[in-house]
Formats: sequence, structure tokens, C-alpha cells
Amino acid sequence: MRLLKQIWCWFDEITGFSRSLGPILSHPVPRARKTRWFYVFGSATLVIFLTQVVTGIALSSAYVTGSGQAYDSLRFINSTTLGRIIRGIHYFGASAMIILIGLHTIRVYLMGSYKYPRQMNWLSGAGLLLFTLLMAFTGQLLRWDQIGFWTAVVAAEQAGRAPIIGSWLGHFILAGNTAGGATLSRFFAAHVFFIPALIFVFLAVHLYLVLFNGISEPPKAGRPVDPRTYRRWYHALLEREGVPFWPEAAWRDVFFGTVVVLSVFVLALVVGPPELGKPPDPTIVDASPRPDWYFMWYFALLSLIPKWSERWVIILGPLLFGLFLILVPILGGRGERSPLRRPWSILLVASAVVVIAHYWAVGIRAPWAPRLEAEPLPPKVVGVTSGPIADGARVFYDKGCEYCHMVSGYGGIRGPDLSDAGDRMSPAQIATRIFSGAENMPSYRGELTSEELNSLLAFLSSRRRVQLPKPPVLNEAPRQTAER
Ligand code: HEC
Repeated sequence: MRLLKQIWCWFDEITGFSRSLGPILSHPVPRARKTRWFYVFGSATLVIFLTQVVTGIALSSAYVTGSGQAYDSLRFINSTTLGRIIRGIHYFGASAMIILIGLHTIRVYLMGSYKYPRQMNWLSGAGLLLFTLLMAFTGQLLRWDQIGFWTAVVAAEQAGRAPIIGSWLGHFILAGNTAGGATLSRFFAAHVFFIPALIFVFLAVHLYLVLFNGISEPPKAGRPVDPRTYRRWYHALLEREGVPFWPEAAWRDVFFGTVVVLSVFVLALVVGPPELGKPPDPTIVDASPRPDWYFMWYFALLSLIPKWSERWVIILGPLLFGLFLILVPILGGRGERSPLRRPWSILLVASAVVVIAHYWAVGIRAPWAPRLEAEPLPPKVVGVTSGPIADGARVFYDKGCEYCHMVSGYGGIRGPDLSDAGDRMSPAQIATRIFSGAENMPSYRGELTSEELNSLLAFLSSRRRVQLPKPPVLNEAPRQTAER
């Protein structure tokens, strides 16, 4: 014991640790009994980031970059107990980090903590938010299964549609014209070296500023921030009623951070990492590319807005969000901090949450994705077991119409429900659509024999809300209409 103490004294004497770190731990922070729990998200984000660094390094020691081996190396990681646990922690850690940094951003925004003198805290934090999202995106591709692979392809395609810089951006994301080994190397380098390095730099600035400017005091309505007097006032406040950071204020951070890390551990143990999909194969389009949950809403939004607006939303959406993050502290650097005096800030956060939740729910249903698992229509839906209508129902399934179109509750929802197609369209109109295709529907010109087409038309025309006593007789020549 005495020896240990001697070693510590010697170490401390030549490094000055306790002299430089002691004041940091004991520096006074505003007493904030009622709101202190709102302040724990930032430190928890940091804790979970460190967890990600540790598990990420562990994963990288078994991961092989290379389009041929990445998938197999992940399969190997998944096959070992420790590998599964570490992958699980890394996966749930990523989700936790996104949630926490989101909550932290909302907290800082609502409490007006970005106002003078903490504008730079906000801006460095905005950078950290961007990098965290980039980490989530790049990490998803490293899985290099069908889903990861197609997500990157779809992202590059979407980026490619952006005006002016589109093709360059798409090329940059894929590191070439197509997704392949170079893409994987690029994403790996970004995920493991480039973005983490930026995070560390921004984090250092962010934490330095938190110490330099002090933790913001809880906002109070009717107490606006005035840059001329704020610092003097803040120091007087600390002198009057400050409490030492450790342990009075920080125990909540320690407690919450521990809870978060433990929850991630438990999820990793109980639920485990996401299963790998099929290995990527550019010739199979059968995976419905679905990003991990945190990007699901954005993906759904892009899939559902009208095509013409897509290219603008892709580029303007993130640009406006970035601009918003930059302008918030610059335009709103002073004045009232209390959310009660800034009702629009509550409105803004609430509407963002509602929109994201809505599109997230839509994304879970994935209406744009063909339902490849759709079963052939059962006889009770078709109504008959032989004849043109039954043949047509079979064609409807065989030719993949059912992937996108629902009939009486069976099939996909990418295209309109055809349960009452016979009420809404004449056979000629249906035939025209089958031959000409549409924005999200392939053209079947040359894909169907005339018997197939006729039975398909018989089947679709028999789809009515009000069932006719007899199936309708076809009397129009579809080929003629198709030639229009
Ligand atoms: C990849 C998905 C997809 C497949 C496969 C598909 N469709 Fe469609 N279909 C759509 C979409 C999307 C629309 C809506 C297009 C629009 O009007 O903008 C549509 C529209 C239609 C319409 C017009 C519906 C209406 O209410 O206006 C008919 C009829 C139709 N499809 C029949 C078929 C038939 C028959 C097949 C198979 C031979 C088929 N579709 C295959 C996606 C698909």
C-alpha cells in the first residue's frame, strides 16, 4: 500500500495529473436540481462512443475488407460466441448513440443552451451529429450482405439524381461506376479511419469548450442572455450557488451512462446482432433494400414523394438541415433561453418528431418494396378453379404482378390495389397499362402471350366490389389498344 502510494506520488509529481485534472473534476457548475437529469445525454453519447471504439477495434481485428471475403469474415465473427456479443454491442451501441445524440441535440436546442457564449459548442456538436450519421451509414455497408450492399447502391443512385453534382457524388460514394471491392474499401476507410479521426478532433474541441464556457444554467423565462453581462453574471451565479462537478452533478451522468451501457450489453446478449442477409450478388435484385431503422424514415420519405421532387429533396433536405444547424446559434445567439418563451422551438421539434415517426412507421411496412413472398391467390379469392379467370389468377402470380398489386388482401402494396379493378377500368384500359407500364411498373410488352393476356384481363375484370352473376365476356381486342 505504501509502495503504491509512493509510486502514485512519484508519477503525479512528474506528470502533474492531480494538479491539472483535480480542478476539472471539482470545478463548480450551476446547481440544477430539477433539470439536471436532462443534462445526461451528452455524456452518455460520449460513453457509448467509447464503447463503439473499443468494440469496433475488436471487430476490425477479425474483419477482412474485400468484396470476396468481407461477408465470410462476418459469418465467422457471428459463429463465435465472443464475436456475436461484440457485434451485438457494436450494433445496439450504434442505435443507442443515434438516439442519445438526438436527445442531446433536442435538449440543447429546447433549453437554448447554444446561445452566447456557447455558439461554438453547438457548431462543433453539429459536426459530431453529422459524423455520427455518417458512421451509421458507412457501417451498415460493411456488413456486405444483400441489404448492406443494395442500400449503398440505392444511396448512390439517389445521390446521383442530385442536380449538378449528382454524378460526381454517386461516383464518389461507390468509388467507381458500380458497387464492388473499391466501394467496400472506401467505406471501410471512412468508417474506421477518416470519420473517427474527425470525431476525435471535434470531440476534443467540444469538451474543451464545455469546460471553458461552463455548463449552461437551467433556463428561466424572463432571464434573457445578454452577451455584455452574461459571463460576469454566470460567474457570480457559480460563486453564489455552484456545486462541484464531481460528485454533486456528475453522479447522474455516471449512473445514466452505466445504465445505457448495461442495456446495450443486455440487448447484445439476449437479442444478439442482426442476422446477416444473403451474400451480395449484383444479379439478384430480390433483396428489398432496407436500411437500418435509423435511416428507415428518410428512405421511406424518398421512396414515397413524387419522382420529380426526389432530386430536390435529396439535396435540399440535408442542405436545409445543415443550414439550420449553422444558423441556429448565429441568428439566435442571444435573448430568451426558456422554451416557454420560444414556443416555435417546441413546435419545430414536435413536428420533426411526428414526421420522422410517421415515415418510420411507413418504412416498416415498406410499401415501395415488392412483396416477393406473396403466395399464389387462393381459390376462395379467385372464385373459380378452372377457366380463363383461374388461369388469369395464375398469370397474375407467375408474372409477378402480385409482388406489387394487392387483390383481396393478398400481394404487395407498391402499386394500386386491384381488388376492384373491374369496377374502375375497362379491359382495354387494363391492357394498355400492362403494355405501357408506368413510373414504377415494368412494361409487359412482349412478355405475355395473347392467351396469358386474355386470361389476365378476364381475371382482373372479374375483380369487383359488387360481384357480377356471370364473369364478363371479353369483347375488345387488347392487341389493338396496346398498339396505340
Ligand atoms: C414493380 C411493381 C409492379 C409490378 C410487378 C406490376 N405493377 Fe402494375 N402498377 C404498379 C404501379 C406502381 C402502378 C401505378 C402506376 C401509376 O399509375 O403511377 C401500377 C398500375 C397498374 C394498373 C393501373 C391501376 C390503377 O388503379 O390505375 C394496372 C391495371 C396494373 N398495374 C396491372 C398490373 C399487372 C396485370 C401486372 C402483371 C402483369 C402488374 N401490374 C405488375 C406496379 C407494378
